Amino acid sequence: MSSINYSNSNTNPSIILNKFFKLLLISGFIFYIIYILLFFNPYYNISTFFTKSSPKGPELATSSFSPTNISDIVFSIAGSTTTWWERTSYIESWWKPNITRGYVFFEKNPQEITPWPKYYPQFRISENTSKYKDYDKHLFRQAIRVTRLILETFNVENEGVRWYILADDDTIFFVNNLVDVLGKYDHNKYFYIGMNSECHASNYYHSFEMAFGGAGFALSYPLAKALVKNLDVCLKRYPNLYGSDHILQSCVADLGVSITQEKGFHQIDLHNDISGLLSAHPQSPLLSLHHLHEVDPIFPSLNRSESLNHLVKAAKIDESRLLQQTICYHKPKNWTFSISWGYSVHVYESILLPSILRKPLQTFTPWSKSAKPFFVFDTRFPSKNPCEAPHVFFFDSVERGDYVVMSYGRSKARGLPTCTAGGNHSADSMSKIYVLTPRRKHDLIGGKRECCDVVNIKQGMDATEIKLRDCLENEILPP
Ligand SMILES: *[C@@H]1O[C@H](CO)[C@@H](O)[C@H](O)[C@H]1NC(C)=O
Ligand SMILES: *[C@@H]1O[C@H](CO)[C@@H](O)[C@H](O)[C@H]1NC(C)=O
Ligand SMILES: *[C@@H]1O[C@H](CO)[C@@H](O)[C@H](O)[C@H]1NC(C)=O
Ligand SMILES: *[C@@H]1O[C@H](CO)[C@@H](O)[C@H](O)[C@H]1NC(C)=O
Ligand SMILES: *[C@@H]1O[C@H](CO)[C@@H](O)[C@H](O)[C@H]1NC(C)=O
Ligand SMILES: *[C@@H]1O[C@H](CO)[C@@H](O)[C@H](O)[C@H]1NC(C)=O
Repeated sequence: MSSINYSNSNTNPSIILNKFFKLLLISGFIFYIIYILLFFNPYYNISTFFTKSSPKGPELATSSFSPTNISDIVFSIAGSTTTWWERTSYIESWWKPNITRGYVFFEKNPQEITPWPKYYPQFRISENTSKYKDYDKHLFRQAIRVTRLILETFNVENEGVRWYILADDDTIFFVNNLVDVLGKYDHNKYFYIGMNSECHASNYYHSFEMAFGGAGFALSYPLAKALVKNLDVCLKRYPNLYGSDHILQSCVADLGVSITQEKGFHQIDLHNDISGLLSAHPQSPLLSLHHLHEVDPIFPSLNRSESLNHLVKAAKIDESRLLQQTICYHKPKNWTFSISWGYSVHVYESILLPSILRKPLQTFTPWSKSAKPFFVFDTRFPSKNPCEAPHVFFFDSVERGDYVVMSYGRSKARGLPTCTAGGNHSADSMSKIYVLTPRRKHDLIGGKRECCDVVNIKQGMDATEIKLRDCLENEILPP
């Protein structure tokens, strides 16, 4: 901003320069002595000297503040009175009354028929946006209202806040994982953390650099503050953008910040059966799900709200492992098991490598087919080849003892002959799979997947028992 002006200064620049060179000479000499002493001492490792003498270096950044917890995070939810009351199972699945902080914002009072339940986030009515006259179209006005929620939220809630989370009223969060994941970032810096869409066309028509709003995204406190200060400028600058998330992303870019992607946020710009994706989740904690009314119920034997509650049942036991993929093999029969914790087990009658199994089976269709390739991640086409098509089991029930014991039941008969190339070992009679998990949290962040062993296959193969464990050092799959 300000440039240095020597002529205004009453100090003579030549005197300053003179002093500077003397200082340089003295400090250079001292440094030279230290260098000689260390370099010619064979018992002293020069690199340890420098690391020891500097006060902790980069560690300081993370240890100088307390761990992030749920009360450091404020949620700002964009609600609409036309959809809210049919989507209440979403908020009920994750909101923790008096624990999670935040608000849901409506365009008008939502209480016309039903009084507002105490166990929901407090509601607020969005400020009047009529001053943005340039925007005539209804859709744009909606985008302005939602874009301004960061400002309205910041104005009422800015004490002791590390992160603001923006989301829609059909976003479901896994809050414990969210706290863990945000905790690895420095909230005093400028962070814009989210994920783009699964669907190529959605990114293509908005931006690959955008954190999609339905998936939910996080703004660190300083970034939120900078956005709020400049929000009116941004709204004027981007009158033609369709979505509030795109306006915010453009504004974030103008502030010099770009997206940090976290693969656990899910916009779910998909249709039909998303079980293929949920059975091969990226190796990252599950943070959110969205658009569940746009896809088939995620458990085929349950309806949508039952399905969500069922997944939440597993989440309550252990969010850290939820949907995390674990792969193991049963060599005597050439079978492969791919577990998606708390959701599904796929059994293959052949040995398939983890590098293949990590690609989701393309059981779903894209939100839009107007740009190819349809998806921004690897997929496998579902196959009718009996050596490549899995027997599919879904999470049934859970019990807690020394281990967490989760049972998975067959969803339907596979309807294919046996894979003969694998030795002709049919898994058709398998009806239950029990997965035993140690009762401690799995630290996935920066870590590896877990490994597992097939420990027991009961007579007649109706039940199989699998135990999760840490992988051994240098263990490669299959063994
Ligand atoms: C969360 O952290 C804050 C400090 O940021 C602390 O004051 C508060 O007691 C913590 N709350 C819980 C529930 O641990
Ligand atoms: C939340 O706390 C307030 C006061 O602290 C209490 O009146 C209210 O019943 C609590 N709500 C729930 C859902 O526990
Ligand atoms: C918003 O403000 C304008 C002008 O101040 C007013 O005409 C309009 O009725 C207001 N809208 C609402 C929904 O209050
Ligand atoms: C789902 O099932 C539950 C209980 O079985 C039922 O109360 C609810 O109305 C069903 N929801 C839909 C959308 O069919
Ligand atoms: C497993 O499959 C391989 C071929 O992929 C075959 O050579 C081997 O005999 C099979 N093992 C058993 C136990 O069937
Ligand atoms: C595979 O096993 C089934 C049942 O045990 C048997 O009927 C069939 O002939 C076998 N097929 C081959 C190719 O060995």
